[in-house]
Amino acid sequence: MNQAQPSTPVLELRDLEVHHRARGGSLFRPTIVKAVDGVDFSVRRGETVGIVGESGSGKSTLANVLVGLQEPTAGTFLFRGRAVKRLDGRARREFGRTVSVVFQDPATALNPRMTIQDILLDPLVVHGIGTEAARLARVKELLSLVGLPQSAAEVTPSNVSGGQRQRVAIARALALEPEIIIADEPTSALDVSVRAQVLNLLNDLKRQLGLGMVFISHDIQTVRYVSDRICVVYKGRIVEEGSAAEVFDSATNDYTRKLLGAAPSLLHAS
Ligand SMILES: Nc1ncnc2c1ncn2[C@@H]1O[C@H](COP(=O)(O)OP(=O)(O)OP(=O)(O)O)[C@@H](O)[C@H]1O
Ligand SMILES: [Mg+2]
Repeated sequence: MNQAQPSTPVLELRDLEVHHRARGGSLFRPTIVKAVDGVDFSVRRGETVGIVGESGSGKSTLANVLVGLQEPTAGTFLFRGRAVKRLDGRARREFGRTVSVVFQDPATALNPRMTIQDILLDPLVVHGIGTEAARLARVKELLSLVGLPQSAAEVTPSNVSGGQRQRVAIARALALEPEIIIADEPTSALDVSVRAQVLNLLNDLKRQLGLGMVFISHDIQTVRYVSDRICVVYKGRIVEEGSAAEVFDSATNDYTRKLLGAAPSLLHAS
């Protein structure tokens, strides 16, 4: 067996770069944006790593690399210690099962024409998991895991609230029993009144299921609330990294201090 050591990160980036071709350049002299500019990063099962930074700092580009949606320009991306670009079909499917994603806006992330049941069945069908009866039982289990009523199965996403739609997206992300969830601003598009509930759900789930999570937000207070470790990104680089307490109590970087000084999150406002 070539089982990875438990200490091997599930996902690891080494000196990773992603360059985007920006609008405004000419055909012969394109303008290049270094969205990710030399990042070392890792996440293991059972830990939550927060990524925080201002708009345009490269957070979503990093998230897209971690879920395999964005090809790096340079550097190394490892899945359980193996280079992702050299994985064969079987290992790629394993990667797809192990790493899953929750995006910012559940309204666009979920197919509006499918019932919630079909949305939750879809990843199970695509990966050929279980019999039809077992898959339907799994859908029931997923709904209760994320605190949705069983009756939600029969309706389409537009028939439930925004907070419930994000619960559907989370249930779908959990369908294949992933080890790592990449959550890119999962509460930013939600009503302030339901943000805390969705954050608490993510916190409960990661404990209950031993999940690893990469939690991305522009709001440092939200990141602190869920993260064991925090990476502060600025212009495509990690400029500060440490435990939540280290980053909050002794931020060494001016930019981090600026993020800390920004208007307090509504979550924590009293
Ligand atoms: N597909 C693309 N083509 C060209 N430039 C891009 C592309 N995607 C992102 N960029 C640029 O790369 C930089 C990083 O963008 P990214 O979306 O990763 O930032 P972000 O931290 O997620 O921002 P936000 O908080 O607004 O979501 C920005 O300058 C952005 O304009
Ligand atoms: Mg983003």
